[in-house]
Formats: sequence, structure tokens, C-alpha cells
Amino acid sequence: MNKKILVTGGLGFIGSHTVVALQERGFDVVIIDNLSNSSIEVLGGITKITRISPEFENLDLRDKQSVNNFFEKYQDIDGVIHFAASKAVGESVQNPLLYYENNLNSLIYLLQQLKEKEAPKFIFSSSCTVYGQADELPITENAPVKKAESPYGNTKQIGEEIIFDTCSAVPHLKAISLRYFNPIGAHHSANIGELPIGTPQNLVPYITQTAAGKREQLSIFGNDYPTPDGTCIRDYIHVMDLARAHVIALERLLDNEQENNYEVFNLGTGKGNSVLEAVQAFEKVSGKKLPYTFVDRREGDIVAAYADTTKANRVLNWTAEFNIEDAMESAWKWQQKLEEKN
Ligand code: NAD
Ligand code: UD1
Repeated sequence: MNKKILVTGGLGFIGSHTVVALQERGFDVVIIDNLSNSSIEVLGGITKITRISPEFENLDLRDKQSVNNFFEKYQDIDGVIHFAASKAVGESVQNPLLYYENNLNSLIYLLQQLKEKEAPKFIFSSSCTVYGQADELPITENAPVKKAESPYGNTKQIGEEIIFDTCSAVPHLKAISLRYFNPIGAHHSANIGELPIGTPQNLVPYITQTAAGKREQLSIFGNDYPTPDGTCIRDYIHVMDLARAHVIALERLLDNEQENNYEVFNLGTGKGNSVLEAVQAFEKVSGKKLPYTFVDRREGDIVAAYADTTKANRVLNWTAEFNIEDAMESAWKWQQKLEEKN
């Protein structure tokens, strides 16, 4: 019998790619998503790739009764990967209660159900945002967690603390938090990818939409940072590498291989790229010149962040296989497919 995995937010960007990776590894998947930041069409995209339609429950995790009913209906869940959350940093500053309600209540309701199970396994989507501007680069998991710069970032910090405390109190609960650096790219088939609603806030969708003619030009936020070319540095990780890491982390839990019942891993490539390098990588793989201009720094941006991935390399035996050019190529293919549809 295949193991059954609940993927919350499984129709979203990282969730949908992880569903594909899970199905390809022989897991059965049931998705919970309320479609607040995704489309039901993603289900078709997943099925096109794997030829297996995952089970799907359109349910809002903020509704405790619905969460309880779900676990009543699905008694055979072997593990949970929890992606569902609101993730727009600016919006979280405007409407912090929405973020605290969604990102924390969902987590609490899931853990309340899970801790009653015999051998609960839980994976949480955390973020490198917990480190803020780290004092040392590359950033290890031991770098101090800095005061969050936004309510969104704070939900990730508090979320990790909630899981840590619950694992301390409930020793049979096994959990892993994965701190993603900057996820980009799409499945190579271009059947699934990132679907930003409205004007993209993040670099790569802004680049691909500009190249597709939907945006006039990219505004690069600051060229006077203390970096070699003056633009900020990030660790851009291909979403398919991330998806694979989730499967490996899940198998670690299912095989009871953990050293402690709560573990944390950075997921990045270990390589930092500047905004200008990201633009160059895009231009190289697309063969298109990208119009851009330098504007003021964006408030709240950190200068540089990239991962020390030694722990994930050693303990999970996982290393990112794709580079920024591979990721840009897949993101561009996905953008072109979206343009064909519209
Ligand atoms: P996404 O918005 O594409 O996916 C999240 C999904 O969760 C969406 O499909 C949305 O409809 C669903 N959802 C939200 N609230 C829900 C609720 N109350 N009930 C049911 N479904 C709900 O986001 P993503 O980029 O795939 O991110 C996934 C996770 O990874 C999030 O927790 C995010 O904070 C975290 N993360 C993302 C990034 C990034 O840059 N994309 C970086 C670090 C961490
Ligand atoms: C985003 C999130 C952060 C999260 C991180 C990792 C925001 C505001 N922050 O930040 O919480 O932890 O991803 O997933 O969403 N840039 C431009 N022009 C643009 C867009 C971006 O120059 O139009 C620059 C930014 O200044 C930054 C880089 O590109 O230097 C990457 O930006 P972005 O994709 O928003 O990611 P982060 O800033 O790392």
C-alpha cells in the first residue's frame, strides 16, 4: 500500500511541484487548498505530468471544524507537508491580523489533530527571512534568528517556535522545518509554474512578465549596495530541487531516521547571485534583452543572503542540481505558455 500524504497549499507554487515529486516517488497525495492564491486548473497541470489525479479538498484551514472533519474522513494520512499560508510581505504589513490568523491558526489546527495520531510526521515551509540580514555569509542553521521585519516573517518565526514547543511536549510527533532561500523556476514541462496574482512583487516573475511585454521594464531596487556590482545578492533555488528535498525530508521522517524529533534545514544552492547576474542569466537563456532601470532601494531589503547547505548535503544527502540559468529557462518557458493561453 502506498503511503498517503496530505499536502496543504498543494495547488500553490511550491506545493504543486512537490505533489508531482511525491507522486513520481509512489506516494498517494491528498491536497487541501482554498484557492485563495491558486487556480483549480493546477490540478489538471499536475495530472498532465504524472497521469495521476491527486485527491483534492477545497477547504479553508482557518476553519477548525473543517480541519477536524477532514481528519475524520481521512484516517489514513501518513504525513503532512504544510505549505498553505499567505506570503505577500507588503500585504502582511498592511493587514497583520490576516497573516497571524491564517498562518498561525492553520498550523495550530493541523498540529492539534496530528498529535492525536499514532506516528505523526510534519514538514513546515519556513523561510530564510527568519535570519534577516545575517552577520555571516553563507548562512548556517545556527545563525541567530533576527527580529522579524514583517508580520509575514514573524509568522514563520512563531510557526517554528510552535512546532518546536509541540515536539518537546509530544515526543512521538516528528517534524522538520525547511527554510527556503529564493524559490524560482517551473516544472520543465511548463504544465505548472508560479502564478502571481496582479503585479509581481518578486524578481523572477517580474523579469519574465517584462520579457513577455506585460511590463514596460524591470525596476532594479538599488545599485549602491556594498556588493561587487551594487545590487542585492540572493540564493535562487529551482523549485524542482526544493520539491525533491521535501520528498527526502519526508522519507527521513517516515523511516524514523531523525536525530531529534524536530529538525531544521536550509534549502538553497549555496551560491549567491546579484540582481544584475539574475538579469544576465535570463538574457542568456531567453536570447532576449531585458529593459531595466535602477531605482531607489526597496524598504526592508537585506543586502545579501545565501545558504550554507552543508547540513542538508550531509544529513539529507541532498544538493541542488539546477543552477540559476536552468531555473530562468524553465520560468521563461512557463511564462511563454501562459501567454499562449491568454
Ligand atoms: P502559494 O501562495 O503559491 O501557495 C500557497 C497555497 O496555499 C495557495 O494555493 C493558497 O491558495 C493556499 N492557502 C493559503 N491559505 C490557505 C488556507 N487558509 N486554507 C487552505 N489553503 C490555503 O505560495 P508558495 O510560494 O507555494 O509558498 C508555499 C509556502 O512556502 C508558504 O508557506 C510560504 O510562506 C513559504 N515560502 C515561500 C517562499 C517563496 O518565495 N515562494 C519562500 C519561503 C517560504
Ligand atoms: C522575498 C520575500 C521574503 C522571503 C524571500 C525568500 C518579499 C518582499 N520578500 O524577498 O520575505 O524570505 O523572498 O523567499 O517578497 N528586485 C528588484 N526588482 C523587482 C523585484 C525584486 O530589483 O521588481 C530585487 C530585490 O530588491 C531583491 C531581489 O530582487 O534584491 C529579490 O527580490 P524578491 O524576489 O522580492 O525576493 P527577496 O527580496 O529575497
